[in-house]
Amino acid sequence: KTNRLILGIETSCDETAVAIVKNGTEIITNVVASQIESHKRFGGVVPEIASRHHVEQITLILEEAFQDAQVTWDEIDAIAVTEGPGLVGALLVGVNAAKALAFAKQKPLVGVHHIAGHIYANRLEKEFQFPLLALIVSGGHTELVLMKEHGSYELIGETRDDAAGEAYDKVARMLHLPYPGGPHIDRLAAIGKETIEFPRAWLENDSYDFSFSGLKSAVINKIHNAKQRGETLKNEDIAASFQASVVEVLTAKTVKAAKEYNVKQVIVAGGVAANKGLRKELNFAFSKTEIPLLIPDFKLCTDNAAMIAAAGTIAYDQGRRSGLDLNANASLLL
Ligand code: KG4
Ligand code: ZN
Repeated sequence: KTNRLILGIETSCDETAVAIVKNGTEIITNVVASQIESHKRFGGVVPEIASRHHVEQITLILEEAFQDAQVTWDEIDAIAVTEGPGLVGALLVGVNAAKALAFAKQKPLVGVHHIAGHIYANRLEKEFQFPLLALIVSGGHTELVLMKEHGSYELIGETRDDAAGEAYDKVARMLHLPYPGGPHIDRLAAIGKETIEFPRAWLENDSYDFSFSGLKSAVINKIHNAKQRGETLKNEDIAASFQASVVEVLTAKTVKAAKEYNVKQVIVAGGVAANKGLRKELNFAFSKTEIPLLIPDFKLCTDNAAMIAAAGTIAYDQGRRSGLDLNANASLLL
């Protein structure tokens, strides 16, 4: 079939999202309900609260998506849903909604990996060129993934401890900034100076893995020592120095991998891809190479369901189907 309309559902963390995507490339509607306000006062996502909000929201968001798209159920070819990884209670709300709809409306069901979704967010902007390298940087993930064709994912590096976004959020918390802290650090970093030399976690010479917990500890120690000595550190300088370390390592490893694997395209995905410092540095580094770099619009960097529908379209085209026994899997592998 030349024209496929796929419904996407995403509830893996703190956004309840429903989207309808045409042919894996064109957004018909993309509705995202964020729960950030409810989690803010706890300084992070509270799993139990997340699940409850998803239950309250999912039916409304589904209705809103169909209303907005002016699409009827007859026109929908399949339902794609995030099956993992993520918070299991949160995932279950989306998975159960998708299964109920697949059964009631007699539509094929396709389980999608959340990271495949983040990767395919890029295809909503530009067609993929294989082999491609994807840098995924979010609150739960920091990964370099090599793709030689649609739907095939080769993990070439990942974080050994904290995810990049997690490091941002933890450092933000030390500076008493609201959750999620990434955007606040980003804003401060832009006005601060790189006055503190924080470590760069390069790891072994040939490794594409990442590590951010040492950097996080270095920031804690720096703040602690300064306090004891009665020194005042400016928050914006801590932010600028911290961000410089994160951005330098992410950029250098991505460029090195892109060259080693001779890729035709580099794409960036996940919430931290919204970071202005990272975008600038990646753009600069890749401008010196022949390799085209694609960083999607901010709205497509953070969690949404259009990306799940986009990845789901490929799985659907490849004949992958999930049964009504589909389960949420908090630690699903890519
Ligand atoms: O992809 P995402 O929305 O959810 C996950 O799947 O994790 O990513 C959320 C993460 C949070 O850690 C948030 O602080 C971070 O992305 N983030 C940023 C920026 N905007 C969001 N980190 C750094 N700079 C930003 N501008
Ligand atoms: Zn995500």
